Amino acid sequence: MTDVRTQSEVKDITRIERIGAHSHIRGLGLNDELEAKPVSQGMVGQTAARKAMGIILKIIQHGKIAGRGVLIAGPPGTGKTAIAMGLAMSLGDETPFTYLSGSEIFSLEMSKTEALTQAFRKSIGIRIKEETDLIEAEVVEIQIDRPASGEGIKMGKLTLKSTDMESTFELGQKMIDALTKEKIESGDVITIDKATGKITRLGRSFARSHDFDAMGPNARFVQCPTGDITKRKEVVHTVSLHEIDVINSRSQGFLALFAGDTGEIKQEVREQINTKVAGWREEGKAEIVPGVLFIDEVHMLDIECFSFLNRALEDDLSPVLLVATNRGITTIRGTEFQSPHGMPVDLLDRLLIITTDKYSDLELEKILQIRCEEEDVDIDENALKLLVKIGTKTDSLRYAIQIIMSAHLVCQKRKGTQVTIDDVKRSYMLFIDTKRSVDFLEEYKNEFMFHHIDNTGDDDSSMRD
Ligand SMILES: Nc1ncnc2c1ncn2[C@@H]1O[C@H](COP(=O)(O)OP(=O)(O)OP(=O)(O)O)[C@@H](O)[C@H]1O
Ligand SMILES: [Mg+2]
Repeated sequence: MTDVRTQSEVKDITRIERIGAHSHIRGLGLNDELEAKPVSQGMVGQTAARKAMGIILKIIQHGKIAGRGVLIAGPPGTGKTAIAMGLAMSLGDETPFTYLSGSEIFSLEMSKTEALTQAFRKSIGIRIKEETDLIEAEVVEIQIDRPASGEGIKMGKLTLKSTDMESTFELGQKMIDALTKEKIESGDVITIDKATGKITRLGRSFARSHDFDAMGPNARFVQCPTGDITKRKEVVHTVSLHEIDVINSRSQGFLALFAGDTGEIKQEVREQINTKVAGWREEGKAEIVPGVLFIDEVHMLDIECFSFLNRALEDDLSPVLLVATNRGITTIRGTEFQSPHGMPVDLLDRLLIITTDKYSDLELEKILQIRCEEEDVDIDENALKLLVKIGTKTDSLRYAIQIIMSAHLVCQKRKGTQVTIDDVKRSYMLFIDTKRSVDFLEEYKNEFMFHHIDNTGDDDSSMRD
């Protein structure tokens, strides 16, 4: 493989913002000394865990150490996933962060190890410095010859100028399409990347500003470029190893990246890419940006995956592995053996362990308040107090969070603007929590089908007491 491509022409599609379970989290909320502020960036309490994560953040940012492993362990609903999201936010866009749930790797299309390998390679970024030839000029004229029949290949000519020169280029179908799509017209100042053919519009030329009376509010005027039309420029971009794999694997092609269906990638492709990347690093053309692979609900992995992780962590090109679980001592999937967190001790031995604790009433109140703001729900003080009480009594922060939206709907139904105690009460009666649901089952057990209590095995080993 002589020519390894690192860029594809298709851009990512912009995402639509929605309110998700963790959308209120904007970072870890640490100060410069890595001390956790009680409430900051949407994060509340859990200061020890956040501080520990801050140290991991620094390790990742320095990018020197490969293959560190961190485990976040704690009871359900104590913010393990939230802290991982906070870390992802603090890392910024440059550093890859891959989020995976333990059960996701059991799919029919791919073997478990292939799915894990891809996840590892998605979490390693390569910052590549490249020199590209860039055309930067003002458009003088675009001339497109349409075939008489109206169909067939279009041909055309593009005349460009800088302050010093003027030059005409032949246009093919692809360039004509690109120019039409970007709505380029004469008087625009544009750049064309010679390698990919990507056209970017910089603005309109000052010289043409008097041509138009009515300009849109977004019209930007720029100077006509000086000097030579073609320039060499250094561009820096970061891609993940997995993206390079996919773009260069012949059976897939870069379109597979956007379909999300990449299938298995041949080992030889990966080896060639590794060699190439090592070469670039030696020449100073590329740098490794180790990111984070976050596997939530890690107890869902089985013994084969765990031994794969052991090995993968020792690789040079390994990201920081972050895993989370709410399990206590339980069976390791694929074996009959019990182990802490359902993970083999040799893997646990390689991990730094961070724990999360139950929240105090004050912290619960703060989190619920933040969630109300996030969901745009106006709630009165007493109703919020009741929510906190519900959270403590049911032992479930999540249940209390769910009640916010339903209480809001109850409030809207009665055409109110602020959620009151009564709305929360109503919602509490409409939707029961796990404890009440269990009590209900106990009471009416004879009326349900397949009622069966297994006293021998204790399979539910989550850390909740
Ligand atoms: N310290 C916190 N600050 C702000 N929001 C929090 C905090 N802890 C938890 N939350 C919010 O509470 C909800 C439950 O937390 P989260 O999903 O992180 O729990 P978890 O520990 O991952 O639980 P599980 O073990 O069930 O996966 C989420 O909406 C989360 O964003
Ligand atoms: Mg979680």
